[in-house]
Amino acid sequence: MMTNDAIRYTKIPITHGSGALPAAGFGTLIPDPVATKQAVKAALETGFRHFDCAERYRNEEAIGQAMQEVFKAGAIKREDIFVTTKLWNTNHRPERVRPAFDASCRRLQIDYVDCYIIHTPFAFRPGDEQDPRDEHGQVVYDSGVTLVDTWHALEDLVNGGRCKSIGLSDITLERLKEIVAVSRIKPAAVQVETHPYLPEWDLLDFCREHGIIVQAFAPLGHAMQPRVVDDPVITSIAQRIHKTPAQVALAWAVQRGTAFLTTSTTLSHIRENFEISALPEDAMREIREGIKTSVRFNSVVGTGVPGFIPRSK
Ligand SMILES: NC(=O)c1ccc[n+]([C@@H]2O[C@H](COP(=O)([O-])OP(=O)(O)OC[C@H]3O[C@@H](n4cnc5c(N)ncnc54)[C@H](OP(=O)(O)O)[C@@H]3O)[C@@H](O)[C@H]2O)c1
Repeated sequence: MMTNDAIRYTKIPITHGSGALPAAGFGTLIPDPVATKQAVKAALETGFRHFDCAERYRNEEAIGQAMQEVFKAGAIKREDIFVTTKLWNTNHRPERVRPAFDASCRRLQIDYVDCYIIHTPFAFRPGDEQDPRDEHGQVVYDSGVTLVDTWHALEDLVNGGRCKSIGLSDITLERLKEIVAVSRIKPAAVQVETHPYLPEWDLLDFCREHGIIVQAFAPLGHAMQPRVVDDPVITSIAQRIHKTPAQVALAWAVQRGTAFLTTSTTLSHIRENFEISALPEDAMREIREGIKTSVRFNSVVGTGVPGFIPRSK
């Protein structure tokens, strides 16, 4: 019999690729490598089987070490986990894609990547400087490459066999449609900011129709104000069903068909975020219809520059 708790083990079948993506994902945007390693090990031991990484986070080595230590203990194998990592903006030129992919695999100590994602649709000046700026402090973009060129280079990676599926991130619906229209291999996943304050229903509908999985980043609103976990609709559901507000927001993400990527360096939060249970249908409806607050917390989608937007409380 399917229990309410089974939701935490949800796997979303991959239409454009093979295998399935565990809906409960652990994000690794953690600045400190020691904290990264501890958090990844704790997440694996707690039950998370999907890890979201990126060359831009500069901590792939720490994640690789954490995974190796857990694999060596014997209970969890590489095949049991789903690893996403991302191509940074400075590597959009097709000739830079394979070296960037290989470098991520090397740092993560893995032979294959389950999903390789273009981190943002914005190409920056190619090179080792991840945040190239001109003398006025403005980002230096690269007009010599298009997103379609980069996408085709990712398609070639899939042909090589070490990249199981490919995707996009921080993309608008319009640009996603452009890629879907010209692609030989369609995106397996798109990773965007989405939570009860930014539900992105239109994007989700399009993705459902085209067999593309939505990975929700900042599913708890990055703990920023206005706090998703303090929303009265969320807190009243949490009280009613004896779960925490974070668990309500994360269960909502899975039940509407997305994967979520949550991050924590706090052991109790890591456990809490995995121990989700299904919400009753009326709670799903209340969140959709009762929450009117609308907030985008991260400005990356407009510029390619990562950053949660500081807000006064
Ligand atoms: N593609 C992109 O451009 C992009 C951009 C941003 C993020 N991402 C990915 O998405 C992942 C998640 O993003 P995010 O960090 O914004 O996720 P989030 O889970 O919405 O926010 C994380 C914050 O919430 C707190 N938190 C976690 N669990 C909690 C709980 N149960 N109760 C209360 N607070 C809790 C954490 O603090 P504690 O550490 O104290 O728990 C942390 O400050 C990133 O790691 C990264 O992999 C991708």
